[in-house]
Amino acid sequence: EDVDVLDLARTAREVAVAAGELIIRERPEEIVVTETKSSRTDVVTAMDQASQDLLRSELLRRRPGDGFAGEERGGAEGTTGITWVVDPIDGTVNYLYGLAAYAVSVAAVVGDVDAPGGWRPVAAAVVNPVSGEEFGAALGRGAWGHTRGGEGGSAPRPLRVAEPESLAMALCATGFGYAAQRRRWQGRVIAELLPQVRDIRRLGSAALDLCRVADGTVDVYFERGLNPWDKAAGWLVATEAGALVSDLDGGPPSDEMTVAGAPAVQGELRAALQRAIAQVGVEQPS
Ligand code: IPD
Repeated sequence: EDVDVLDLARTAREVAVAAGELIIRERPEEIVVTETKSSRTDVVTAMDQASQDLLRSELLRRRPGDGFAGEERGGAEGTTGITWVVDPIDGTVNYLYGLAAYAVSVAAVVGDVDAPGGWRPVAAAVVNPVSGEEFGAALGRGAWGHTRGGEGGSAPRPLRVAEPESLAMALCATGFGYAAQRRRWQGRVIAELLPQVRDIRRLGSAALDLCRVADGTVDVYFERGLNPWDKAAGWLVATEAGALVSDLDGGPPSDEMTVAGAPAVQGELRAALQRAIAQVGVEQPS
C-alpha cells in the first residue's frame, strides 16, 4: 500500500489534540493512582487509560485495519502494515504534579514494534495540551511546530536542530527510568558527563525532549531504556529536523540507549557517554 505520510501526520495531530483536550478537561483535583509499575513513583493514572482508549478508538475508526500499541492495556494487531504507537500522557509525573511539561505522543510506524530495531516511525504528532505547543513530522517531508491559540500563538514553522560548536557548549536534556538500580547507574553516568557539557536538564517527558532537540530549545538529549511509545513520535520529529537519533554506536535507537542531536555534537555525546560508561561500568541487574 502506498502510504500518504502527510495524511497520517494530520490524523496523528487531530487525535493527539483530542486526547490532550480530554486530559486537561478531566484532570481530577485529586489524581487517582490506579496502578504502579517498577516503583511507586511510576504512577499510572486513570487518565492515562482514558486518553489511550480515546486514541485507540479514534485511530481505528478512521483507519480500520491499522495496528495499535500503547503504554497502557489494549493493543491491536493490524493488517495494513501501519501500527499506531502512542503514549497517552508522556510525562505522567509532571501531569500528576501539574507541571506544564507533558504531552500526548502519537506515531504511525512501519515494521514490528515488538522487535528491537525492527520498526521505524513514518508520521508523528506530539501535543502539549497545557502550553498549546504542537510538533509534527512526516518521513521525508520535514518537521514542523507551532503554538496553538491564545497569547503567543504562532503559525507552523519548519523545525531545525541547533548546531553548537562543541559538546562543551551544548545544553543536554536527559531522563531517568523508574527502577532504583537503574537510577543509581544513571546518576553515576551523569556525574561523569556533567563537567563536559554546558548544563543538563531533566524536563520529564521524553517525547518533548526529542521535540526540543528538533527546535533547538536544547542541543542534545540522551536516555537509557526508553520504550517505543516514549520515543516513536519524537524520534521522527528530531530526525526530520536534522538530528541524528541513534543508539551508542550510531545504529537505530535501542532499548539500551537513545541519543539525539545535530550529527557532529551527537557523535561527541556518544563518545563521551561511551567513556562515562567505561568509567562507571555496565548497569548491574537489580
Ligand atoms: C517517561 C517520561 C520521562 C522519561 C521516562 C519515561 P511516562 O514517560 O518520558 O521523561 O525519563 O523514561 O518513562 O511514564 O511519563 O509516559
